[in-house]
Amino acid sequence: MAQIVIDTEIKDKKVISRHIYGHFAEHLGRCIYDGLWVGEDSSIPNIKGFRKDILEALRRIKIPVLRWPGGCYADYYHWMDGIGPRDRRPSTVNTQWGKVTDDNHFGTHEFMDLCELLGCEPYICGNVGSGTVQEMRQWIEYLTHDGKSQMADLRRSNGRTEPWKVKYWGVGNENWGCGGSMRAEYYTDLFLRYSTFCADYGNNKLYKIACGPAGNLPLKWLERWVEEILVRITPVSAFGFEIIHGISLHYYTFEGDLINKGSATDFTEKDWATVMRRTLHMEKYISRIKAILETHDPQKKIGLIVDEWGAWYEVEPGTNPHFLFQQNTMRDAMVAALNFNIFNRHCDRVHMANIAQVVNVVQAPILTRGAKMILTPTFHVFDMYKVHQDAILLGMNITSEIYKRKIPAIQGSASQNANGDIHISLCNINPNNSINISIKFPSINLNDKKFSATILRGDQMNAHNTFDSPKNVQPKAFDVSNFEIGESELQFKMPSIAILVIKLE
Ligand code: AHR
Repeated sequence: MAQIVIDTEIKDKKVISRHIYGHFAEHLGRCIYDGLWVGEDSSIPNIKGFRKDILEALRRIKIPVLRWPGGCYADYYHWMDGIGPRDRRPSTVNTQWGKVTDDNHFGTHEFMDLCELLGCEPYICGNVGSGTVQEMRQWIEYLTHDGKSQMADLRRSNGRTEPWKVKYWGVGNENWGCGGSMRAEYYTDLFLRYSTFCADYGNNKLYKIACGPAGNLPLKWLERWVEEILVRITPVSAFGFEIIHGISLHYYTFEGDLINKGSATDFTEKDWATVMRRTLHMEKYISRIKAILETHDPQKKIGLIVDEWGAWYEVEPGTNPHFLFQQNTMRDAMVAALNFNIFNRHCDRVHMANIAQVVNVVQAPILTRGAKMILTPTFHVFDMYKVHQDAILLGMNITSEIYKRKIPAIQGSASQNANGDIHISLCNINPNNSINISIKFPSINLNDKKFSATILRGDQMNAHNTFDSPKNVQPKAFDVSNFEIGESELQFKMPSIAILVIKLE
């Protein structure tokens, strides 16, 4: 049994930023090359070299923002390698991810074209680890300067007359690890230095994001990293210059550990429960960082940017271990839904989140093999939850029966969009039992409402789509004729291994 109360009379209105439903694409394995990008001469249907089927799928889920070029790769990437005629771009070695050759055919213009085709915002992560201040400064000038200058003219000579709009700018990635093995003190100094030279050109206004901690490391360390940055950096510098707008957080759900990560498809109920429990730790990390932010930035100028999250397992048997290609089951759909509920509930601070990664890498919404593409259960959660983009968060109190190890079986979040429609997202993480649900709405009369619902359900915990059976797991209309609707209470039975989104119009 789960009893839920939805408060529609919220005084302090909080908007769920659409950027919470963001994505991440890195030069890693088959995410970009052979994933998003197949090149204009490919026999796979493409627009300007980008797979048509992927473009359509990402538009369908209203992709709001795409982060690039890494990840760890960002601190290895020198952007000038990726501009100019493709046949004259240098080949470089991707030392971070399998030492494969990158012909740099996907560079700045391709990324910006992709964002334009998708209708999403670009989020570029600059190189602090092995790059220079000058290099980062010039990249921003190349992208966004309208007037005459060496960099703007270079952009024009490469075929782009108009400057692009770029808002989100990362100053390094995981600089405590792959991005340079730095101490918090050292990174903070570098952030101040690099950020000072990240200029706004014309009416382009950057939103500068500092590298934050990872939840996968000890909590004390996480707190110290955030404290160090926030003690030293205030949103506006002593000279009236806006220096920081966001701080990042990375948190991956592991079933095992970094060495033995467990199989994506072959797991027990114990492994399922571990993944649910560890995913819910996201709330702890966000809450901890929010508390520190509250002390240093009570006016909430600095946003929390969860720019890497997802479930990380062993690669699919027979695939390159450096390519991080893994299958995706109903367990991962649940990971996505649980994370989205947490991000929605913390939307007063969480401004953006980016799943790792958009295609073929880690918890990918989309997998490809040759000309084939499958939409994973995680993709379907993005599709179902897109209704929360830019909606107002509603108060939701859930008292649920416990699944295992103190984990409440029913989790959720709710919002109201600009048309007044209410969407309630619920997950039943108990893989064995359906659960009776009661939802009370103290301030609205349900007799005036029209109900509909969509469900994503697996017949097993590891239900998933394959290239031969791509529609095994798909959202379906949920039969609302079984709903018992009173004046202010809705009752129904929620199946096991299920994610449900109910709409009240
Ligand atoms: O998403 C894969 C990698 O995980 C990213 O490159 C890095 O930032 C993180 O450690």
